Amino acid sequence: MELYNGDCLEIMKEMPSESVELVLTDPPYNIGKSKEWDRIPNYIEWCMDWLKECLRVLSPHGTLIFWHNDMVQISHLICELLKEKDVIYNSTGIWYKPNFRSIAWKNKNGNTTQRSWFNVCEYFQVFTKCKTDKPGQTGWKQVKLDVNNFQNLRKYAFDMLVWIGKNANFAGGGTIVLNKSKRTSEAEKQSIFSTVARRSIFSEVGGRADHFTRYGTTQWELCTPETYEVLTKTYNLREWEKYREYEDLRQEYEDLRPRFNTEKGDGVSNVFLSSWNNTANKSLHPCQKPLDITKKLIQTHSNRGEKVLDMFMGSGTTGVACVNAGRDFIGVEKDEKYFKIAKERIETAKAVFFDAQKL
Ligand SMILES: C[S@@+](CC[C@H](N)C(=O)[O-])C[C@H]1O[C@@H](n2cnc3c(N)ncnc32)[C@H](O)[C@@H]1O
Repeated sequence: MELYNGDCLEIMKEMPSESVELVLTDPPYNIGKSKEWDRIPNYIEWCMDWLKECLRVLSPHGTLIFWHNDMVQISHLICELLKEKDVIYNSTGIWYKPNFRSIAWKNKNGNTTQRSWFNVCEYFQVFTKCKTDKPGQTGWKQVKLDVNNFQNLRKYAFDMLVWIGKNANFAGGGTIVLNKSKRTSEAEKQSIFSTVARRSIFSEVGGRADHFTRYGTTQWELCTPETYEVLTKTYNLREWEKYREYEDLRQEYEDLRPRFNTEKGDGVSNVFLSSWNNTANKSLHPCQKPLDITKKLIQTHSNRGEKVLDMFMGSGTTGVACVNAGRDFIGVEKDEKYFKIAKERIETAKAVFFDAQKL
């Protein structure tokens, strides 16, 4: 756990690249909430400075989440982020605050004084870092369909086919007759072996292994453990010197994907309700975020033990949620008063967490 009292732009520069799994942060919204820290000249450019640093420090498949409530500024930020390399827009989430007061919005006659709807929501934007040659992409699915991704695993599938074809030790297989009249290059031989193996797999194991063998297409997919077991037995794959256990393949596959941990039966709706109310709860910070939503985001978008960064930590909500969820945390806060509050809150959470573990 690392806590810094200072300007995040300075501190982030010192952080190693690709060292953080999740950035979950709540920047100043530039709506005048505080004279000290919520009026920022050239706001979008300023945001892009720390957002670019986030993309640098995030792991190759890390997730970036930031809160905001002003739609115009959000739209500028999304447009600017989509111009960056290797990042895709993933989704938007909403914190719905039904008990938020709206009295000031209405005049005596019940008309809205602002001639607009009263906003009872805050929004978080989710972006995923990933290698893609299609800037401005939306959604992980399109990235998954990019044949440049999962190269190592695709190569494994191809090598497996070549080995099966070369050994021709499958039921119904036989010696592959290469055209003796011309010299067959190594690449041509490999292509022949893999084609023969694919045909055999289709007839012996069936369509369920088909996508695993489509190593060079957008259809490639890691097969299920059951299918892998059948492939292993049918072709004596354990005799192959490059053979890898399924769990090893699955781990690599999962490591290459953004985290999204949900339990069976968990809702995946992007609208969150929380009983938290900054006024009623006498919050430690005027913009304090609910602990329950923060913890849910951390658990979903990172794994146990991974690093989470919040460089506008305020009263330290993200840090407390990280302690409770068993994640490592890096927190930055410029204001000395809030830094002290955050540090104390996180220390208390740690003490409670470790005491509970002793029981
Ligand atoms: C919206 S508040 C975060 C509140 C937090 N989510 C919580 O639950 O308490 C934003 C915080 O960013 C801090 N801040 C503003 N500019 C900063 C900078 N350049 N570096 C680090 N912190 C900064 C402010 O002092 C403020 O406490």
